[in-house]
Parts: sequence; C-alpha cells; structure tokens
Amino acid sequence: MEISHLAYVLLFLFAAVVLYVQRRRASPSRTANCPHPNPVLGNTVEFIRNRGRFFDWYADMLRASPSSTIEAWGALGASHAVTTADPAAVDHLLRASFANYNRSAQFRAAQSDLIGDGLFGADGRLWSLQRKLASYAFSSRSLRRFTEDVLAVHLGRRFLPFLDAAAGSGEAVDLQEALRRFAFDNICHVAFGVESSTLLEWGDPRHQALFAAFDTAVEISFMRTLKAPTPVRKLTKLLNIGQSRRLREAVGVIDDHAMSVIEAKGVSQRNSRDEGDPDLLSRFMAAMDEEDGGGELAAMFPTPEAKRRFLRDVVVSFVLAGKDTTTSALTWFFWLLAANPRCEQRVHDEVSRSPDGNVKGMHYLHAAITEAMRLYPPVPFNGRIAVADDVLPDGTVVRAGWFANYSAYAMGRMEKLWGENFMEFAPERWLGDSGEFAPVDAARYPVFHAGPRACLGKEMAYMQMKTVASAVLRRFRLNVVAPAASMESPPAYEMTGTMKIKGGLQVQLRMSDANKSSFATSASGQEVD
Ligand code: HEM
Repeated sequence: MEISHLAYVLLFLFAAVVLYVQRRRASPSRTANCPHPNPVLGNTVEFIRNRGRFFDWYADMLRASPSSTIEAWGALGASHAVTTADPAAVDHLLRASFANYNRSAQFRAAQSDLIGDGLFGADGRLWSLQRKLASYAFSSRSLRRFTEDVLAVHLGRRFLPFLDAAAGSGEAVDLQEALRRFAFDNICHVAFGVESSTLLEWGDPRHQALFAAFDTAVEISFMRTLKAPTPVRKLTKLLNIGQSRRLREAVGVIDDHAMSVIEAKGVSQRNSRDEGDPDLLSRFMAAMDEEDGGGELAAMFPTPEAKRRFLRDVVVSFVLAGKDTTTSALTWFFWLLAANPRCEQRVHDEVSRSPDGNVKGMHYLHAAITEAMRLYPPVPFNGRIAVADDVLPDGTVVRAGWFANYSAYAMGRMEKLWGENFMEFAPERWLGDSGEFAPVDAARYPVFHAGPRACLGKEMAYMQMKTVASAVLRRFRLNVVAPAASMESPPAYEMTGTMKIKGGLQVQLRMSDANKSSFATSASGQEVD
C-alpha cells in the first residue's frame, strides 16, 4: 500500500475513534436502545437499506426495544432522533411537556416550500392565532352545514354516480384515486366555498398535473424532514437541479391553483352579500383585511404580497389536511374488509339495517374504521424537535435539538398495547359489552395526534368516512382486483407523509340487488343518499 493511502486510512480510523469517544462522552446517562449503530455512520446504512419499508423497520425496532423507545442518529453523530411507541412517552411529548417540543427551524426548512407559514408548520404565536381562527370553522354549526349541504351534494351528485357508471361498465376503477378526488372537492367546497369537480372531470390533464404536483411536493418534503439538511441539498437548491428543481416545479403548479382559489373567493365575496356562517378561507381573509383594522395575525404579514402569500399557505395547508387523510383511511378500510369477509358481513348488516343511511348509531362501522386506522394510520410517523434537554417518563434523555418522534404505525402493532391478536383486523376490540364504541386515550392511539395540537378535523373526518362507507356498502358489492385481499400479503405502501397503497386500490363494483332499481335515478345525478 502506498504511503499516502496508508495515511488516509489511518486518518479515517483516527477520526472514527475520536467521533466514537466524543459520542460516548456526550451521551446522556440513560440512552434509549439504539439498534445497529455504527460509530461513524450511525444508522445511515440501515436507514438506506430499509428506505422502502421505513414504517415497518421502525415498528420492528420499537417492538424489540424493552422500553418501546429507541434512539437513532445519522452520519458523524448528526441528526439524533428518539422515537417512541410508549403511550406514557407520547403523553409526555404531546401534552405534559408540549412547550418543550416544537416544529423547529429544521422542519420548517424542509417543508417551507410547500406549507410556508401555514398552521401545520407554525409554532408559537403564529400557530396559536391560526389555530383559534381555524377552530371556528370546525364548530358544531359548521359541521352540520358540512354534512347537510356539502357532503350530501358531493356524495349524491358526484361520487355515487361516478361509481354507478363504473359498475355499469364492469371495468375496474382505482378507488383510492376516486376517494382522493372526492375528498379534494369536498375540502375545497367546505373550507374555501369553491366548487370543483375533479372526480367527474377524471381525464382533465390540469387536475392530473395538480394531483401529481401535490404527490411530488409531499414526498420530497417528507423525506427532507427525516434527514438533516446537507450542503448537497443547499447546492441543488441554488443551482435549481435534481430534487430541488422537481420540488420547485411542483410547488409552482400548487401555487397557481391556490392563487386561483383566492382570486375566485375575492370575486365571489365582492359579488355577494352572504350573511351566513363564513367558511375558513373567508375568516382568514377577513383577518388579513386592512380595512378591518387588521389584527395581530395581519401585522405578522405587513405587505399585501406577504398577506397574499400567507393566504396561499392557508389554502395549501387545508387541502393537505383534507385531501389525503380520509382517503388513506377509507382505502385501507375497504381493503381490510375485503380481506376479512366476516367483518365485511357485519358492517354490511349494520348499514343495511338503517332505513335512511343515518350513520350516527353505527357503532360497528365506527369501530371498523377506527380499527383500520390502528393498523394503517393515515399519518404513520410524526415528530417534533426538543427545545431544551428533557427526560421521558422511562428515564430516556432527549437533548436539545434532537428529534422526538412517535410512530402511530408502530403503536398500532404492539402486542403490549393490543394483546396477542394485535396483527388481526378485529373491530370488536373497540366495542363495549353493550355493543357501543369504546374509545381509548389518544396517547395510546395517537392517530389524530393528542394535546393542544390534536386534529381539529377529527369529527368532520369521521362523519365523512362513515357516510361514504355506509353509502358505498349499501349500494354496491366490491370485488378487490388488486392488490390481493389477503392479510398474509399486505399491500406495499408509498413512502410519503400519508399511508397510501402503492399502485392504488383497483376494485370492480356490482350494484347490490336492493339498489338495482335506483340506478337510473342516481346516474342522472338527482338522488342524494
Ligand atoms: C382520518 C382523517 C384524519 C387524520 C388521521 C388526521 C390526523 C391528524 C394529525 C396526526 C394531526 C397532527 C399533525 C401535527 O401537528 O403533526 C392533525 C392535525 C390537524 N388536522 Fe387532521 N387528520 C384527519 C383529517 C382532517 C381533516 C378532514 C381536517 C380538515 C380539513 C383536518 C384538520 C386538521 C387540523 C386543522 C389540524 C391541527 C394542526 C395544528 O394545530 O397544528 N384533519 N390531524
């Protein structure tokens, strides 16, 4: 070996030893279990190897850890992450020590192109002002308006006729994509008062471009939140190449759409004297309005351009909140029913018993949707950054600047939490002796998060999911064509922020016997279920 090569090797070994010793010294008194660490590369090699099954990789490690908490770090000791599937730790992160865990500059840097200053990426006063404003839009009055006006119209005039046509043709249809378009049209209507019909305009290339842009932007932003920013990322951004270029182009398409929503809203506000309950976007627009005196939120965005940009962030945040979450839950729900015919029959019996399709008393359906989200939570992995050093209830130390994550996906798959049959789809586990739905604490089932930042749209989401599931199952028999409906070979998922079935859910629909006679009426778009 040449002298220069030997020198490099020695230098590398020396650096590795120094780093290792430093790491040991810097380690807290009680570290969490850290599987397969490498003194120089940390868990990077395993991360790359398990990239395509990230959620299962973490679930495996968390199940194997006695405390249900693990620690992992990136190359050269960068990017420490403590991740837990322990309800006591989740309670601590999201409730008891809420103030110590926030989104951080790193999360914002990864997500800023997509969500900017919107609710999901904001911290502190910017977050609390938005949260308060948004919460009015989820009041019980708004919820009633949602079910009576928006949901009923989109279901009866668009979604069911779309499925009727698919049933009539005998062709397989991608139910995941249909649900996504339905959810998108719904959220645009209820939150922004803008009517769209991306579902019925299935082949329109503009809609396809918009959905593809959202997918690209969410996927790149999600992967960026998992890794510390590198000089390569900064360079690609500067040169507008690679992932940075793809992200910029996707965000451009999303921006155009969001701005067109804001323009349309402005025009409709100028032309109408609607005295009714304002929707979410109207509330945010009023809060930005100089003539109204502009409040604290308006002062944070001093120029007209900054205000417009912020409204764009509001639109994008709510499209993201409403578009993929219920879609994910319902897609896995329909797949799980197909893989579990006994449960499918029980849901079917319950929805068929109701004369008017009112979902309020449907406890088994509620349990089955909740159970589907236990195994496939729409937001499978979530995290914050520690502001100051802290100690979790089991004694694990979290240093300032470290990621503090919880995996809802892993938590749904812990024998400790759900018993021996934790991998089975068993809606019955959610029912009390009288057959009524029995919820558990959100720290044990953090599918909708917990604490001050818990999901504001939970009730609306359940209402939408139950109404859609009940209407579909009353009307059709579903035959899942792909992926195979078997618990032994679960479908692959996309590696992105929400749990999507890779390749979609291809189903053939057959009108159920009781509904054959109403086909003509519903296809003409008049019937509202
Ligand atoms: C099955 C459906 C849904 C699931 C599983 C779900 C899950 C979640 C989760 C995990 C969070 C916490 C995000 C975070 O801070 O890291 C959240 C927050 C939130 N969600 Fe949902 N969500 C669903 C549907 C919806 C819908 C339909 C809306 C309404 C458009 C909505 C609006 C919100 C809002 C406003 C927040 C609060 C953000 C904050 O205060 O920071 N969600 N949701």
